[in-house]
Amino acid sequence: MLPETTTDPATDTTKRDPASKSAHIAHCLTPAVEYAKRAGFERYDFVHQALPELDLDKVDLGTRFLGKAMRAPLMVASMTGGTERARILNQRLGAAVEKHGLAMGVGSQRVGLEDPERAHTFQVRDRMPTALLFANIGAVQLAKGWTHKEARAAVKMIGADALFLHLNPIQEAAQGGDVAWAGLRDRIRAVVQELAADGIPVVAREVGFGMATETARQLVELGVAGIDCSGAGGTSWAKVEQLCAKTPRRAKMGAAFGEWGIPTVDSILNVRAASATIPLIATGGLRSGQHVAMALALGADLGAMARPFLVAADKGETALDEFIQDTLLELRIAMFGSGCADVAALKTRPVLRPGTAAR
Ligand SMILES: Cc1cc2nc3c(=O)[nH]c(=O)nc-3n(C[C@H](O)[C@H](O)[C@H](O)COP(=O)(O)O)c2cc1C
Repeated sequence: MLPETTTDPATDTTKRDPASKSAHIAHCLTPAVEYAKRAGFERYDFVHQALPELDLDKVDLGTRFLGKAMRAPLMVASMTGGTERARILNQRLGAAVEKHGLAMGVGSQRVGLEDPERAHTFQVRDRMPTALLFANIGAVQLAKGWTHKEARAAVKMIGADALFLHLNPIQEAAQGGDVAWAGLRDRIRAVVQELAADGIPVVAREVGFGMATETARQLVELGVAGIDCSGAGGTSWAKVEQLCAKTPRRAKMGAAFGEWGIPTVDSILNVRAASATIPLIATGGLRSGQHVAMALALGADLGAMARPFLVAADKGETALDEFIQDTLLELRIAMFGSGCADVAALKTRPVLRPGTAAR
């Protein structure tokens, strides 16, 4: 656990209500926020290779994403910022990401844009000077008057390489948040074009409800540089909102939509049905190195996790480091055991077969 001094001061007051950020972290540390529904990895097994003709230590986990080299295809999904506790977690995560050559996204920066005094809680560049870093804003803010200016400011705030625009209509609707989504697509297109002119890739991401083929097609048509299909089967953001609800009606809506969403495995396949080449991150219910390997074998370019990194980072730097080492070793063994010398082989060879559970 974080030391007591890292809890949020009782004096916290901002327009975006940092108390809700603290509640998000507190609830996401418990398994109550997880879907009962599975992400779908149980539907597959790896085709075991008893004679892999490889040295385990020589298996190459290195890859590139959005032009940047990574030492492994693993990412810390967008999570947090806005409070002192979030700042400490971000710093821990950033240092671990740099050490292992991974990538990371910070949480929605709205609170930092609305209250510059909170911007420092998103800073991780000092800890991860070279690793791939994503800024993050909610796409729906564009329907409320935000433009490329705020998008640029979010990137500049943390010295990011790229921007996530998160799509979270069910979360917003369940919590009684921002629900005017009409007209958003043209605004996304405009921001994508403006930032592309600065050399900043914009990647659209769900927050855990998954991606339909139709949505992925629309996003590709809008010109996004990549997609994080963040699907169902891990953290349910309707359940998080149920647990954080301030009124019985909001709790009821969160509960009603707790199992809503497209499982991550289907979301990966859906995006790939829309585009064979769009850079694709798979998030949502990845809980092991084998899940990361499977996500890549199904068509993703990176595997990302949110809640598992939060739980490990909350325990401390050592626990976080062990978690990453274990995850990468498991990924390496899965590649070894399926005869894949590198990420390219994992993504092109027929390494999966229907799982026992599916037969
Ligand atoms: C504590 C916490 C805060 C999150 N905050 C954000 C956020 O601000 N913006 C965002 O795009 N996604 C956010 N997410 C969603 C994750 O990036 C991810 O898509 C989702 O939790 C599913 O992944 P998981 O099953 O590995 O947790 C958050 C997740 C957690 C656990």
